[in-house]
Amino acid sequence: MRREKGEAVLKGKCLLEPLDFSVEEMDGLFADTERIIASPEKYSEACKGKILATLFFEPSTRTRLSFEAAMLRLGGQVIGFAEAASSSVAKGESLADTIRTVSCYADLAVIRHPKEGAPKVAAMNASIPVINAGDGGHQHPTQTLTDLITLKMERGGFEGLTIGLCGDLRFGRTVHSLIKALSRYEGVTFVLISPEELMAPEYVRRDLEMNGAVRFEETRRLQDVIHRLDALYMTRVQRERFFNEEDYIRLKDIYILDAEKMKAAKPDMIVLHPLPRVNEIAAEVDDDPRAVYFKQARNGMFVRMALILALLGIETA
Ligand code: NCD
Repeated sequence: MRREKGEAVLKGKCLLEPLDFSVEEMDGLFADTERIIASPEKYSEACKGKILATLFFEPSTRTRLSFEAAMLRLGGQVIGFAEAASSSVAKGESLADTIRTVSCYADLAVIRHPKEGAPKVAAMNASIPVINAGDGGHQHPTQTLTDLITLKMERGGFEGLTIGLCGDLRFGRTVHSLIKALSRYEGVTFVLISPEELMAPEYVRRDLEMNGAVRFEETRRLQDVIHRLDALYMTRVQRERFFNEEDYIRLKDIYILDAEKMKAAKPDMIVLHPLPRVNEIAAEVDDDPRAVYFKQARNGMFVRMALILALLGIETA
């Protein structure tokens, strides 16, 4: 990617947390993404001879496949596993040893793990860039890149937006990362919509309280606030992080966005969702032009192409 003078370079860095890259570095990545979207064929050989390892210790559809598709569309190759049971972890190997070994084979590694902080441990033991593709209920910074590029393309930027985040704000790692990343932009208002048990964790709310540049409010009722939102980020109740099934069953259908509720929303409010969706968005909403979650999934592949190029330090004109 041709870079303007002074533009930051991400070569060799890891992406573990949403604030690992500066605002300027993120801007560079988004500009690269838009160039890739405009002419993807130009990049079809950019990663020839390079290998990406995808180490997934937890289920995934979009994140793993979009990383793999991104690398293949760049002309690179992919190795990896989609569940811990098919790796030597099943024999008792430590994550440190797994990543040391993977560093011998690949140029870049993407890791998803149920334990919070596992990608950081991997990065400490790796000699290649490591990307966090979701660690427990903690963070998911590449989903945030996907969310931000979609907001940027659909709404023109982030400043001054009122963003509703609805559903499981406690265990939903995409929400934690998105709030952190958006908190760096002026005039953003967050409307956190959840039942008490699924409120955003203390550390996320404390950061918001201490940040003078953003405002936030909390409510239980989507209907009361939907008319004020510029973007609504719906989330799935994270069944796998619940301690008991009864609580999950009680809370799982607490919010269902349907055509009726969409009537109260602004004509230009966009609906985002990291996917997978369970019941929280009725299928009838899919045909509403404001529903951009499948576009968002597609953008995720392009922004991951830009990320791979940046971390490998591959410059293309
Ligand atoms: C999210 C995740 O894994 O945290 N999925 C994704 O990567 N797009 C959201 C979810 O699982 O609910």
